Amino acid sequence: MSQKTAKYRKDYQAPDFTIHSVDLTFELDPSQTRVTNTMVVERQGSHQRPLVLDGEGLQLIQVSLDDKTLNGDDYSVNDQQLVVSTDKDRFTLTIINDINPSQNKALEGLYLAENTYCTQCEAEGFRRITFYLDRPDVLARFTTTIIGDKSQYPYLLSNGNLIKTEQCGDKHVAVWQDPYPKPSYLFALVAGDFDVLRDSFTTREGRDVKLELFVDKGNLDRSEHAMTSLKNAMKWDEERFGLVYDLDIYMVVAVDFFNMGAMENKGLNVFNAKYVLANPATATDQDFLNIESVIGHEYFHNWTGNRITCRDWFQLSLKEGLTVFRDQEFSSDLGSRAVNRIQDVKIIRSHQFTEDAGPMAHPIRPDKVLEMNNFYTVTVYNKGAEVIRMLHTLLGEAGFQRGMQLYVERHDGQAVTCEDFVAAMEAANEQDFSQFRRWYSQAGTPQVEADVDFDQDKQQLNIALRQTTPATPGQSEKLPFHIPVKISAVTPSGQVITLNEGLLHLQKEQQQFVINGDFSAKLQAGEQPVVSLFDNFSAPVKVSRKISANDLRTLMAHAPDPVSRWDASQQLFGELIHQAIAQQTTVKLDQQTISACRQLLTSDADPALIALALTPPGAATLADNYDEIPVEQLRHNLKQLKKQLAQALKDDVMARYQQLTATLKAHDYQLQGDDISQRQLRNTLLSYLAEINDDAAWFESVYEQADNMTDTLAVLQAVTWTEHSVAEELLNRFDQQWQGEKLVMDKWFQTQALADNDATVARIETLMQHADFSLDNPNRVYSLLAAFTQNLAQFHRADGAGYRLIGGVIQTLNDSNPQVASRLLSAFMSWKRYDAHRQALMKQQLEELSALPNLASDLQEKVENSLAA
Ligand code: TRP
Ligand code: ZN
Repeated sequence: MSQKTAKYRKDYQAPDFTIHSVDLTFELDPSQTRVTNTMVVERQGSHQRPLVLDGEGLQLIQVSLDDKTLNGDDYSVNDQQLVVSTDKDRFTLTIINDINPSQNKALEGLYLAENTYCTQCEAEGFRRITFYLDRPDVLARFTTTIIGDKSQYPYLLSNGNLIKTEQCGDKHVAVWQDPYPKPSYLFALVAGDFDVLRDSFTTREGRDVKLELFVDKGNLDRSEHAMTSLKNAMKWDEERFGLVYDLDIYMVVAVDFFNMGAMENKGLNVFNAKYVLANPATATDQDFLNIESVIGHEYFHNWTGNRITCRDWFQLSLKEGLTVFRDQEFSSDLGSRAVNRIQDVKIIRSHQFTEDAGPMAHPIRPDKVLEMNNFYTVTVYNKGAEVIRMLHTLLGEAGFQRGMQLYVERHDGQAVTCEDFVAAMEAANEQDFSQFRRWYSQAGTPQVEADVDFDQDKQQLNIALRQTTPATPGQSEKLPFHIPVKISAVTPSGQVITLNEGLLHLQKEQQQFVINGDFSAKLQAGEQPVVSLFDNFSAPVKVSRKISANDLRTLMAHAPDPVSRWDASQQLFGELIHQAIAQQTTVKLDQQTISACRQLLTSDADPALIALALTPPGAATLADNYDEIPVEQLRHNLKQLKKQLAQALKDDVMARYQQLTATLKAHDYQLQGDDISQRQLRNTLLSYLAEINDDAAWFESVYEQADNMTDTLAVLQAVTWTEHSVAEELLNRFDQQWQGEKLVMDKWFQTQALADNDATVARIETLMQHADFSLDNPNRVYSLLAAFTQNLAQFHRADGAGYRLIGGVIQTLNDSNPQVASRLLSAFMSWKRYDAHRQALMKQQLEELSALPNLASDLQEKVENSLAA
């Protein structure tokens, strides 16, 4: 593998040539697919530089220019590029090359897996199909001809409209034309045999759009939810954003082999099957919600990504941050806004903050990239969405939509930058976002110190805020951010106080805010208001503030914002654990916190919100507060906290569990808000019961009575993660029932990978021999091995067995699928955060990788940055 060199955002140059149209012909063959590529190319500007096309792993057969076959004097070719010298300004270039789809295990470019041909071109996969200007600012009209075996591949699909079909012997031919100029990363081709779910959608302009969902044979009974989600997404984008679909056909193909979630190729989305296939027997409520969100995400890209695309890959967050924001809003409008928001906050705290604190920390718009695949990150996606959300908070819905409208008006059909987006938001609202732009350029998580004081005499609230942002690689000095701080207040008994201001703008390093409100009307003599800061997680920052446990309990019960109610519970639990660790004792749940939890549990609040508030922060979120992560203490105290809570609330937990079970049993399973919410609480309570109840027969009967995967998996996880005596029995039964059903077995693999059990490493080694496991399939790797890296105590075993297991897998995947290998490697990047002993063991794995003669660029970048830290 050739070593790549880093590229810098500041070095962007417009392309020397553009491509107006490209005609592709694929003669499909497992080991030798022939690609004929005819491009109309035009020089941009008056330079005399040669045409330099990208190409990787291609077998070049022939090059011709305006019908003249070129010989070696007119072009040169190496492992990365084809360079064509010509003095013509406009010409037709035809390139013929061969590729080997069946040997493509990296799943980039054109690959053949389990008898389905499929492409993945983002970010730089198109160059593995043919020689091309493989960059997002070259927009061309694509025509695609596919020739394949009729019986094996009855469906031949590509972007746009099917304009011609032909039969010739055993083979058939399909010609597709996409009327919209697009960058190469949005190209797609699929060939295979499928069952097809067909439907249609009428746009608000009255145009009928054909909807087609392609799934593996026999899976039609798992495809309805994806189709419903697609129609909901199309309708929602018209209503909320005024954006209407633009082709007459929209196809979605579910494939079993896919590195990521899904891909927004124009008119032909390719999906990881796990984000399409679901019925109540095989999928959990969370799976259904994820499908809705990913289907929405890829559909929303049609405007934010496809019609308006990125000028260069440094701008990735232009489409991804915005589209994640849009899919979050879609899920929130259709389901529970509070539950969705809490889940988004959890991702930021458990994953993005960790990334921001590690050696690969980067701004949402990176400045330096070696391997683009490494920048499809929680920072670019989820923090990117937080930045868009802050704009929304600053502008309000109407102002935000005005900005969106101007953005579309100005840039439809173009390849643009994050700067263009912010400029449109500014212009449409007559705002100055010069300072706000720092969210795009500075990496790292701002830390806000808050001091809240109530002046009894003046009946005023004084809020002192101070921001600092730690240094990150390549950025030692940080300037203050523009941080929106949403605030609210209640009396000690929970009555809402009306404040004169609900949104503070923290823009300097230090700022004092004086807030008036109807304090005197609401507070009793001598009472203080209880103040909530960063309501709805109004900025992706860490907050440190002295606040009493009493006040946190008040906020947990009464904060006007549901996200802040949940957050108060997380701070309460977090504080208990941190204190225990600081004092080297075992966490002790106090009576007042127990009563607060009991009150919540017996309240009529939304059951899902109760479930979330009664679940302590995860290990990753807690770990983020330490310079040196205390592995054993964290796991010990988290475990103790859950046990004590279960013990203290035993009767109430059982009572509510029984009541919810009865309510749910009164009718058939429904995928509907109230039921989802009730199942979530019921199953959270079940996990508490497993902490203290060793009645094997009881859990067995719960397992037997489960009539949907949400409930089945809940029991399985509860007993496995508490090392319950019935765990092995239920794991065996699950295996017996579901083996062969790969997506279902992923849940089984994952459940075992996450068990905090000293036998877990050995078990994973055995599971890797299971008939349903394969290192070639990314979903299997993620469910068994990537999940394991989140298992704090077992991955970080003091004897290094966890590191050796994953290190070995990374070495194997380096040769076959570097993108997946690189995802696993993230677990080693925070090696500096552990004790000296673990540091040495983790570093050893990084050094072994670094010494590999053929280290892929995906791994090279992360290993180098990690070792340099
Ligand atoms: N654009 C895709 C999305 O956000 C991401 C994606 C799918 C991707 N497959 C990929 C990115 C492969 C890099 C490589 O939905
Ligand atoms: Zn996306």
